[in-house]
Amino acid sequence: MNSEQPPRAVQSTADAESAKTWSGRFDEPVDERVKRFTASVFFDHRLAHFDIQGSLAHAAMLEAVGVISAQDLADIRRGMAHILGEIERGEFRWSLDLEDVHLNIERRLTDLVGDAGKRLHTGRSRNDQVATDVRLWLRDAIDRIGGHLKDLRRSLVDLAEQHVDTVMPGFTHLQVAQPVTFGHHLMAYQEMLSRDGERLVDCRRRLNRLPLGAAALAGTSYPIDRERVARELGFDAVCGNSLDAVSDRDFAIEFTAAAALIMTHLSRLSEELILWMSPRFGFIDLADRFCTGSSIMPQKKNPDVPELVRGKTGRVNGHLVALLTLMKGQPLAYNKDNQEDKEPLFDTVDTLVDTLVIYAEMMRGVRVDAARMRAAAAEGFATATDLADYLVKRGLPFREAHEAVARAVRAASIRGVDLADLSVEELRAFSPLVGDDVHSVLTLDGSLASRSHVGGTAPAQVRAAVARARDDLA
Ligand code: ARG
Repeated sequence: MNSEQPPRAVQSTADAESAKTWSGRFDEPVDERVKRFTASVFFDHRLAHFDIQGSLAHAAMLEAVGVISAQDLADIRRGMAHILGEIERGEFRWSLDLEDVHLNIERRLTDLVGDAGKRLHTGRSRNDQVATDVRLWLRDAIDRIGGHLKDLRRSLVDLAEQHVDTVMPGFTHLQVAQPVTFGHHLMAYQEMLSRDGERLVDCRRRLNRLPLGAAALAGTSYPIDRERVARELGFDAVCGNSLDAVSDRDFAIEFTAAAALIMTHLSRLSEELILWMSPRFGFIDLADRFCTGSSIMPQKKNPDVPELVRGKTGRVNGHLVALLTLMKGQPLAYNKDNQEDKEPLFDTVDTLVDTLVIYAEMMRGVRVDAARMRAAAAEGFATATDLADYLVKRGLPFREAHEAVARAVRAASIRGVDLADLSVEELRAFSPLVGDDVHSVLTLDGSLASRSHVGGTAPAQVRAAVARARDDLA
């Protein structure tokens, strides 16, 4: 939105009038360096739209309970509409002397409409005001992120659907373990991201309570109607304790934790894309528009986007630690420390939104080399477990079957062949239970098809998982 555009250079107006907002009790003006050090307008101007929304709801409530007049409310509405226009056109003059977004807007309102502007702050404090603004801002961000997350999940499901029966080696310890389908592998990430979506919904639910009314910390003596303000701003309820309302930043921490987890999931997928794109694997290729070349090595095509996602995960994890650390030593109630919540939170949202949008697009451009995947699955004795299970089904205890197959794998690997390349007679040397039908379980497709239960890798099950995900995303 326009009100999030960076302000034109924040100016130091330094006239006596603008400093008066809070310095009446001081003998000397605040040191210029202290002004810069304590100001937040450089970054909290992003809250402007929500600051105005909160102020309008507060003013309407003050009028309804008889604290300000109908004329005051009309003046405040007119002034705020004007200010919103100035901000959206990039014409608003942000002043460093006015410290933060709240005082900048309030001062401009007073310049525009006079005494009504000075009455707006009745029964509230910047402490409950900023807590409200940040919640409104983050709620809006969460709603946008929810949409981007779904779009990314759709891109994964689309690709998975194209590859419900594309065989690839499944790994544990990054060693070939058992065959899986590429579709199944992708659907694992869709599963993670669907949990992430639930976490955001849950976080939004707890965030959606109104701090306003807590005033500085103890509440206010005016006959306020908090429920009315909550309803008007779309909050489900009011915060139940004034001290907690102004000091709580749990919602910022919860959100950043959820964001860190989304980034962590995407970092893992990035690591895989990077590996799969390496010529040693050669499983996939990313579209050229998502890669860069090297300034010195003409042959290079680098997966910069997934690498940067992996890197930016560190940055978001850092913001989570910053927010936790910010809160851990604070006594009740509001402390100026809380001003430090914004930059990590803003950057978390920006980083996450950019990542989700670019990732969805990147996944739509993934090209798959199914033959290379199949060849890799055929190389690592990926069906050894299937042979052991075959012997168990014929009566051998699992541990003995495991041992018999281990000896068969050893023999095959010495000869440089796969288990499926051994004849029935050769296999029977490891267990008399081996029958003429043994090769049916040693094929990759047989192995896949046999794992046909909910959550398994059989193509039919992956198809069902795709259908469930589509229902969920509808
Ligand atoms: N800029 C401040 C913040 O972000 C607003 C609240 C200031 N309150 C105060 N008592 N100084 O937290």
